Amino acid sequence: MSNLNQSLGEFIIENQNEFKYSSGELSRLINSIRLAAKMVNHKVNKAGLVDIVGKAGDTNIQGEDQQKLDVYANDVFVNGLVNREIVCGIASEEEDDFLSIKGRKGKNENKYVVLIDPLDGSSNIDVNVSVGTIFSIYHRISEVGTPVQLEDFLQPGNKQVAAGYIVYGTSTIFVYTTGHGVNGFTLNPAIGTYYLSHPNITFPDKGNIYSVNEGNYVHFPQGVKDYIKYCQKEEEDRPYTSRYIGSMVSDFHRNMLKGGIYFYPQTSQSPNGKLRLLYECNPLAFIAEQAGGKASDGFGRILDIKPTELHQRVPFFSGVKSMVEKAEEFMAHY
Ligand code: AHG
Ligand code: MN
Ligand code: MN
Ligand code: MN
Repeated sequence: MSNLNQSLGEFIIENQNEFKYSSGELSRLINSIRLAAKMVNHKVNKAGLVDIVGKAGDTNIQGEDQQKLDVYANDVFVNGLVNREIVCGIASEEEDDFLSIKGRKGKNENKYVVLIDPLDGSSNIDVNVSVGTIFSIYHRISEVGTPVQLEDFLQPGNKQVAAGYIVYGTSTIFVYTTGHGVNGFTLNPAIGTYYLSHPNITFPDKGNIYSVNEGNYVHFPQGVKDYIKYCQKEEEDRPYTSRYIGSMVSDFHRNMLKGGIYFYPQTSQSPNGKLRLLYECNPLAFIAEQAGGKASDGFGRILDIKPTELHQRVPFFSGVKSMVEKAEEFMAHY
């Protein structure tokens, strides 16, 4: 990649005619996310040098210990979004309830809602392993001029107008879609600009990586156990190789580029799994489909699920289309 590549800013302007709704606003919204991501990136890079690793001392609505960087990243994204005249509401993994933003003169005229996982993989911060941010954007369905409603956040994933993620890894990459394919932009930290490094990303047709927390094996449903055994069997192009970082955004990103499947199934203790439909699964499902991959709850399409609550959890299988279909075949036996 050279710095002569197109910058993310240029790319957004050149492609804004593809946006479904008012193009200028969505462009500005994505701009504010890329800016907030730069701030989080700057902070993540200093982990270990300044006092930002470790627990913040609170528990979030998910029942998880919040890390200092969970709180910091949440604040940066929320602050970066509230002061622009675009977003009428934000829902976050780290907030109990959605935030309502009245906008200019308190008129409730802003049109978009944003749902975020401000810091994904936060258990990895303290040990210098990749973390990320995931975001999802919808056009409101409640009437403009009235306060944002819960229903604006509970739209099925197939209504997303944009979704993306940032991986703060060996380099920082911003990947997003507005429903016209998936593009990735790598941050040049010296000059603070993201450049188009991964145009038009697509999953390979076949893959040989499976990513799952096998420590939960005994608690998995029989279909998942059998699928894991299938992945490990010496036959045709198998056994597959096992890779699990524990930051889903990094696991997903690797599998999209190299060819693989990521799954976080239901367990006997957690019948809906662990991952959050609105902040994690829907945005990655939108990106997966836009990149020619697939995302399923083991039985059907993630993007068609009608959410019933903000912090809803769902089993999640995503990656190369044929691999997810094979996992679904095993699930269907039980
Ligand atoms: P978060 O850090 O946003 O709470 O998400 C953690 C998620 C996901 O990133 C990861 O794949 C998964 O939890 C790991 O869970 P296990 O430690 O149970 O494998
Ligand atoms: Mn968390
Ligand atoms: Mn997460
Ligand atoms: Mn998180």
